[in-house]
Amino acid sequence: MDNLSYKALIVEEPEKNKFTREIKSALVNDLPDNDVLIRVNYSSLNYKDALSATGNRGVTRQYPHTPGIDAAGIVEDSQFAGVKKGDKVIVTSYDLGMNTSGGFGQYIRVPGEWVVKLPKGLDFKQSMIFGTAGFTAGMSVYKLIKTILPEHGKILVTGATGGVGSLAVGILSHLGYSVTGVSGKTGTTLLNDLGAKHVISRDAFLQNTKPPVLKAQWAGVIDTVGGDILATAIKSTKPDGVVTCCGNVASPDLPINVFPFILRGVSLLGIDSQNCPMDFRSKVWEKLSSEWKFDMLDQIYDEIFLNQLDNKIEQILKGELKGRTLINLD
Ligand SMILES: NC(=O)c1ccc[n+]([C@@H]2O[C@H](COP(=O)([O-])OP(=O)(O)OC[C@H]3O[C@@H](n4cnc5c(N)ncnc54)[C@H](OP(=O)(O)O)[C@@H]3O)[C@@H](O)[C@H]2O)c1
Repeated sequence: MDNLSYKALIVEEPEKNKFTREIKSALVNDLPDNDVLIRVNYSSLNYKDALSATGNRGVTRQYPHTPGIDAAGIVEDSQFAGVKKGDKVIVTSYDLGMNTSGGFGQYIRVPGEWVVKLPKGLDFKQSMIFGTAGFTAGMSVYKLIKTILPEHGKILVTGATGGVGSLAVGILSHLGYSVTGVSGKTGTTLLNDLGAKHVISRDAFLQNTKPPVLKAQWAGVIDTVGGDILATAIKSTKPDGVVTCCGNVASPDLPINVFPFILRGVSLLGIDSQNCPMDFRSKVWEKLSSEWKFDMLDQIYDEIFLNQLDNKIEQILKGELKGRTLINLD
């Protein structure tokens, strides 16, 4: 096993701040010295992977590096109690693919604490259609529906055709919520197919953003983009509404004042999937694999091989991808 060679997408920095991506052979022996060796069957592409693959030091400090924050596969070797050779497992939303060689390689070696048994009710593919994006959508939904019920009114999802957004639309619609998506894409039926009742174009949504509060419309919001869109969503949330915030593809800034919070009692909840404790993590996966597993799940992904990743990385950075992209590592 030690000298086994495997294929991986390797990002290198041949000269300062110039990055290359190539599929190369790597040695299992050179993987980090952790407890559990996993043969990866599927990974998935997330926005963060594209940042890692293009040299973003906020995500990955050192190169050469193999990105891939998600992996599903079979345990080849384990020194960790409770995880044994042959177990079907997933690893998502930890340091995998950031500063630990990730799921865009056929093998990973990770700390046993990161390993989650493949939830009953999901196969490898479905676990990666969810992946970190679905887990993040799941955390957001979990927090939102604690206080917001379908009868309280409409839920807004931003970045709605993206990974986190599309999965949030699918889960909430399946649970009986009336969902409105904000999207920069035109001419796609994805959101309606997922059960969204309304779709608003990004431009229309951002037409009147200046006043400190706007017409109250949303009982809840799942935001995946930040910036003006999140600020506008908060300003148009109904009294006692809940807004979750997980991403910054539009901007890390939040141009807003305190009025929606002190005049309407709006709550803003942060979502951090990477540091999610195992008991909450297990609860979210249990929901995703059972009562939140919606019918369209198997129809919102493209399956590609390692050698097709390059183009998809460019597309996700431009916000052009819809739904989820799975990487088949067999
Ligand atoms: N906090 C956490 O634990 C956590 C976990 C996972 C992901 N995230 C973050 O969540 C965000 C979404 O991740 P993802 O994997 O779903 O990404 P994704 O698949 O690339 O989806 C992002 C979507 O946002 C919209 N968008 C893109 N550029 C935009 C812009 N300039 N302004 C407004 N909207 C834009 C697009 O959807 P439309 O065309 O439909 O508008 C795009 O498909 C990222 O920032 C990611 O880093 C955070």
